[in-house]
Amino acid sequence: MLIALGVSGGIAAYKACEIVRGLDKAGAGVQVLLTESAEQFVTPLTLQTLSRRKVLQRTFDLDAEKTIQHIELTRQIDALVVAPATANMLAKFARGIADDLLSTFYVSVAAPVVVAPAMNTRMWLHPATQQNLAALQARGVAVVPPEDGWLAEGETGVGRMAEPEVIVEAALRAARRSSELHGRKIVISAGPTREAVDPVRFLSNRSSGKMGFALAAACARRGAQVVLVSGPVGLPTPYGVRRFDVETSREMRERLLAVREGADAVFMAAAVSDYLPRASASKIKRSGGALELALDEGPDILRELGESRCERLLVGFAAETDDLLRNASDKLKRKNLDWIVANDVSRPDVGIEAEDNAVTLLGRNGERIDVPKASKGEIADRILDHVFGAAEVVADV
Ligand code: CTP
Repeated sequence: MLIALGVSGGIAAYKACEIVRGLDKAGAGVQVLLTESAEQFVTPLTLQTLSRRKVLQRTFDLDAEKTIQHIELTRQIDALVVAPATANMLAKFARGIADDLLSTFYVSVAAPVVVAPAMNTRMWLHPATQQNLAALQARGVAVVPPEDGWLAEGETGVGRMAEPEVIVEAALRAARRSSELHGRKIVISAGPTREAVDPVRFLSNRSSGKMGFALAAACARRGAQVVLVSGPVGLPTPYGVRRFDVETSREMRERLLAVREGADAVFMAAAVSDYLPRASASKIKRSGGALELALDEGPDILRELGESRCERLLVGFAAETDDLLRNASDKLKRKNLDWIVANDVSRPDVGIEAEDNAVTLLGRNGERIDVPKASKGEIADRILDHVFGAAEVVADV
């Protein structure tokens, strides 16, 4: 196991030595990347001696055998842990700015990333920092939050970096996770469908696709081969994911049936239309008075998948406004699923369109797991931990 440890410039940089020792003791190789400002706080020689590897400091090192060594290295590592992560480094990560070795490394990494922020309380609480953190969490970055206590500036408050042992533990968990789904094929559907009413109008729903995309990204980070079938959404394809775009529920059904072969798991996170309008070939004109639209029942894709099971895991989603658990549990049985992820869409702060979610997982053997409100990236990781049965190994960081 090889873990990259990024050290950015803050007084907590001296604790990086303890983190290297902790990882080394656990048997992990450690490749340190030191920013220029971190060099003011801890010497490369100390870190090099402890890690027994040349510390990387510059993007283009003329002495190195390969000038693009950071790209080479991103393929080899099992996790990137950044401790301390300064407000500036978090901002660069959030925006994808690559103007030094560590920030360039971050945008090239597919492995799980853990950040341990350390800064002054006011910097920590500033909306800019909090927004950057939220963006990173939504992308699946694990955050080891700073603690409350004495700060180097002589103040007390939140901002002190977490203890090295806690960071070591989080890094090891993330690294173990990175190959957990290696060799597995996972199919995920996401987003809404659009059903034509006439050549210019359609029926659709509010699904943003964020939950399905977060799941696809989380599966890819764990080493799976991921196929994402998406309805119309405005989201970028997660790194390492093969994506097919579809529009209607019929197209979604066909694509899913085609890509399902050889899949170990299918997650049906799309919000598929149940009813399809009888589309008019020409634009419907205003004719005075009410307009009635006739709707026919469309395919229930998940039910069809459940009736012809070939994957080890079939997971559905249930967005409900009433009787959440009863309705979800009915769907779990009716559609022959292993798990259903239930969420209450009557809450305005979570679920459809929101950045966050809060879900309850119901399993075919009567399991019930409540996952409290968190970013969709984190919720995706919790769902995977549970459905792949690794909850005890990869508990919350
Ligand atoms: N689903 C599907 N095809 C449909 C409708 C839903 O595959 N035509 C899937 C969804 O992707 C989700 C699960 O079935 O994983 C439950 O979707 P939901 O809309 O909550 O349930 P329905 O079966 O449509 O039941 P109802 O609308 O009565 O709540």
